[in-house]
Amino acid sequence: MKFFVDTAEVDAIAELNDLGMADGVTTNPSLIMKSGRDIVEVTKEIAEMIDGPVSAEVVALKADAMIEEGRKLAKIADNIAVKVPLTWDGLKACKVLSSAGNMVNVTLCFSVNQAILAAKAGASFISPFIGRLDDINLDGMDLIADIREVYDNYGFETEILAASIRSVNHIADCARIGADVITSPPNVIKAMVKHPLTDNGLAAFMADWEKTGQNIL
Ligand code: G3P
Repeated sequence: MKFFVDTAEVDAIAELNDLGMADGVTTNPSLIMKSGRDIVEVTKEIAEMIDGPVSAEVVALKADAMIEEGRKLAKIADNIAVKVPLTWDGLKACKVLSSAGNMVNVTLCFSVNQAILAAKAGASFISPFIGRLDDINLDGMDLIADIREVYDNYGFETEILAASIRSVNHIADCARIGADVITSPPNVIKAMVKHPLTDNGLAAFMADWEKTGQNIL
C-alpha cells in the first residue's frame, strides 16, 4: 500500500519522507490556500523532495482551459500528476492529458459509475472521498470496496487513491479492501503508531529497568 501525504505543508511532508512514508503527495486548492504559498513554487519544492507522484489541481471548469492549466502544472516537474475534477469537462481533459503521457488524478469521486468513467478516460488515479460520504451518513468505505471489485472485474489499471481520510480506521479498512494508495493528512499517518498497550508496556519496562541500576551506555 502506498502512502501519499495530503498537504502542501513542506515540513510535514519532509518528516514523513525521511521515514520512507511519503510515496507521493496530493494537494488541492484548499490545501494550497492553507499553506499560504504560491502553487507553482510550493509544488516545485515538493516535487523535488518526493520521488513519487505529486498531484496539483487545475481550477478551470472548461476542458480547454483545464488542459492548458494541466500542461502548465505538468511542466513543473516530471513527477506531477495533474488533478482534474470528476465532471464531463474533467474527463475530456483527463483523456487529452493522459493520452499525451501525463499522469492524471481524477478527484471528487463519489460513485462507482464516476470511477468507471475516469478509468475509461485514462486516469492514472481515481480519488474517492471517504470522509465526505461519511459526513452525509453514507459509508465511504463501501465505495472503496465497490470500485476495487469493479476495477478488478475488468482489469482497469487506474489506481484507487483513497482520499478524504479522517481516521486511522479509514487507513486500516482501505488496506483490508486493497486500495492501491491512501492519501492522508500527516497527523492521521502519525497517529497510526499509537496504542495504549505499547505505552503501558514501555512504562513497565522503564520502571523495572530503573530497579536494576544498570546502564547500556
Ligand atoms: O484528498 C482530498 C482531501 O483533501 C479532502 O479531505 O477532509 O477535506 O474531505 P477532506
